[in-house]
Amino acid sequence: MKTLQDQITSTLSAFDHALINAQNMADLEKIKFDFLGRSGHLVGLMAQLKPLPLEEKQQFGPLLNSLKQQLQEKITAQETKFARQALEREQKQQQSFDVTAYTPRQIYGSLHVYTSLLTQLEDIFISMGFEVVDGPELESDYYNFQALNIPASHPARDFHDTFWVSSPGMLLRTHTSNVQAHVMQSHTLPLAVFAPGRCYRNEATDATHDFMFTQGECIVIDKNISIGNLLATAKTFLQKLFGKTDLDIRVRPSYFPFVEPGLEIDATCPFCKNGCSLCKKTGWIELLGSGLIHPTVLRENGINPEEYSGFAFGFGMERLAMIKYGISDIRLFRSGKIRFLEQF
Ligand code: FA5
Repeated sequence: MKTLQDQITSTLSAFDHALINAQNMADLEKIKFDFLGRSGHLVGLMAQLKPLPLEEKQQFGPLLNSLKQQLQEKITAQETKFARQALEREQKQQQSFDVTAYTPRQIYGSLHVYTSLLTQLEDIFISMGFEVVDGPELESDYYNFQALNIPASHPARDFHDTFWVSSPGMLLRTHTSNVQAHVMQSHTLPLAVFAPGRCYRNEATDATHDFMFTQGECIVIDKNISIGNLLATAKTFLQKLFGKTDLDIRVRPSYFPFVEPGLEIDATCPFCKNGCSLCKKTGWIELLGSGLIHPTVLRENGINPEEYSGFAFGFGMERLAMIKYGISDIRLFRSGKIRFLEQF
């Protein structure tokens, strides 16, 4: 049987062997458990002291204590070594961290749906011989109303909940029809203009109404302009916009003080044959307010209605985009929501 001295020597050499082979902290934990744990080798050796005579206890007691201390110091030294190696590895990794290698989800920009529709409209109207013009958003009562046969007390003003500004007689235009009088005064005849732009109405917002929205206005003035010209132009425009050569239109009587007669133009639903939720199962969608320019408006702006006639039609651009792209709420246009915007 091995003496206690032999066992101390062999325990130390077994410990050293195990320590040399330890690869990481987990290995060290296991060595600690095997040699210094509650049922480890050291406790086994200590237990052998108990039955020994006093002088052997005095001989082996210090030896076992010294063994315990050695094992603990070696373990601590190895732990420190492993910790330092881990730190060095981490620092090395950080030094070689390539910031350009990090590729978060790419977010690509795209045209706003309004910009995209505006570009299409401009292309269509330019291809049909129209000039694209701009009109003032900060406007006078005269151009927004009076020059359009809407004097101060006219009930039609009730349809336009107007944002008046602090300068007397000035307002934010309520429709792009304000451009009519401007172009009649600034252009030589004949003229054909498309005027897109922002309009403002002091209305509560909902899914189809906003206090700021955009309209497009088409104005044509020449000799012998008739309802036939209006309908042919409107139909060609809508066919091009929806990419459907079989799109048809119909008219319903309407009232706008600056046209006579006034007409609402509906188009056959571009998305169905027999009725869908968009056309509310009717097969028709309302698209344009229109009419022949009222002789009073021509005269007010220096054009002889005996010699010239003209037509105008106007539409809400968000409404067109909502129909064309299936957008359910007008408030999404200015919401800034990426998930909405990135679809277009
Ligand atoms: C007009 O503004 C006339 N100037 C149109 C016109 C032009 C008629 C030329 C005849 C000749 P109306 O108020 O209906 O008409 O507005 C036209 C379109 O603008 C509406 O059909 C709708 O699409 C859009 N619109 C009007 N108010 C709002 C609003 N608060 N929010 C969003 N779109 C609106």
